[in-house]
Amino acid sequence: EKDEGKIRIGFSQAMSNDNWRRSMNNSMRLQASLNPKIDLIIKDANYVVATQIEQIESLIADSLDVLIVSPIQSKPVTSVVQKALYAGIPVLVVDRKTESQQYTAYLGADNIEVGRNAAKEIIASNIKDSIRIIEIKGLVGSSPAEERSMGFNQIIDQFKKAQITATIEGNWEKESIQNKFRQLLNDDIKVDYVFAHNDRMAVGAWEVARELGIENEISFIGVDGLAGTNGGIQAVKDGVLKATVLYPTGGDEAIKLALKIFNKEAIPKNNILSTTIINELNADIMNNQFEKINEQQDQMEEQLAAIKKQEELYYSQNNLLKITMAL
Ligand code: FRU
Repeated sequence: EKDEGKIRIGFSQAMSNDNWRRSMNNSMRLQASLNPKIDLIIKDANYVVATQIEQIESLIADSLDVLIVSPIQSKPVTSVVQKALYAGIPVLVVDRKTESQQYTAYLGADNIEVGRNAAKEIIASNIKDSIRIIEIKGLVGSSPAEERSMGFNQIIDQFKKAQITATIEGNWEKESIQNKFRQLLNDDIKVDYVFAHNDRMAVGAWEVARELGIENEISFIGVDGLAGTNGGIQAVKDGVLKATVLYPTGGDEAIKLALKIFNKEAIPKNNILSTTIINELNADIMNNQFEKINEQQDQMEEQLAAIKKQEELYYSQNNLLKITMAL
C-alpha cells in the first residue's frame, strides 16, 4: 500500500557483509534520514544472483518510486532491470553495471581508470628494468573486474619492462585466492608486484607471502582504500600494501541522485566518482580527511537522534494535552 507523501527508494544490494558495502549502506541510510519523506528499503541479495533477481521483482511489485541496483554480475541482472524500466520505475545502477545501457543512470568511479592508476603506480614506483606482475581478478562477469583488468592491461602493455606473468581468478574475497596464490609461489613463479582488484584480496595475498617469509620481496597493490582500522588506507600506513586505488562507495550521492530522478530533474547518464592513488606519500592526509568526514557523520547521526527524541516528546506531550482537554 503506497503512502502518498512518501518517496520510496529501493536498493538491491549485492551483499552487505563486507566493510565496503556496509559503509555504502550506512551512508545511504544517513543521507536518506535527512529527508523525512524518503523511505529507504535495502534488500541484501547475499551474493546469490537468483535472490537478487527475486528481490528486484518484489521491489517492482511494491510500488517503488526509484530503484537502485548494485548487480552481483552484469548479464543475469540485465533483464530484470529492464523490467523495472518497463514498469515505469527509474533505475540507478551503482558500482557494478548491467550489460545493456538500459538504465536511467549509472553512479560509480571509472573502473578502467582504477586499473590504469594501479598500473601507472607500479611503473612509476619501480626502478628495476624488469617487473613481473601477478594480477588477481575480481568475480568474473562483474563489471569492475572486467574494467579494472582492461585498464590495467592497457597501460602495462605499453611498457616492455613490465609483464603480467600470471593471473588468478578470484571472487572479491580473500579466501578465493589464497590457495591459488600459494600454489604459484610454491611453483617458484617470480613476482615483484601483485595487483589485486580489491584490498581484501591484496591483503589476503600478502598474508600468504608472509606465511612463506617473502612478504618483503613483493609489493602489493589493491583497490578500495577504505578508512578505518581494517581498511586499505591503514594497510598502506602499516606497509602491508604499497598502494591502493580509492574506490568511493558513493552511498550519499546515490540517494541524492535518486531524489533528483524522483523530482524529474535532468541528470547525466554517467555519474563518475573520482578515484586516486593512495600510497605512503598521501595515506596520512587521506586518513585524516576521512576521519573528519566520519566524525561529521557521527555528529549528524547524533543530531538526528536528538531531533527524533524531541519529536517523540512533543507528540507524547501533545497527546497528553489532548487527553487532558478531553477530560
Ligand atoms: C565490495 C567489493 C569491493 C570492490 C567492489 C567491486 O563488495 O568487492 O571490494 O571494489 O565490490 O564491485
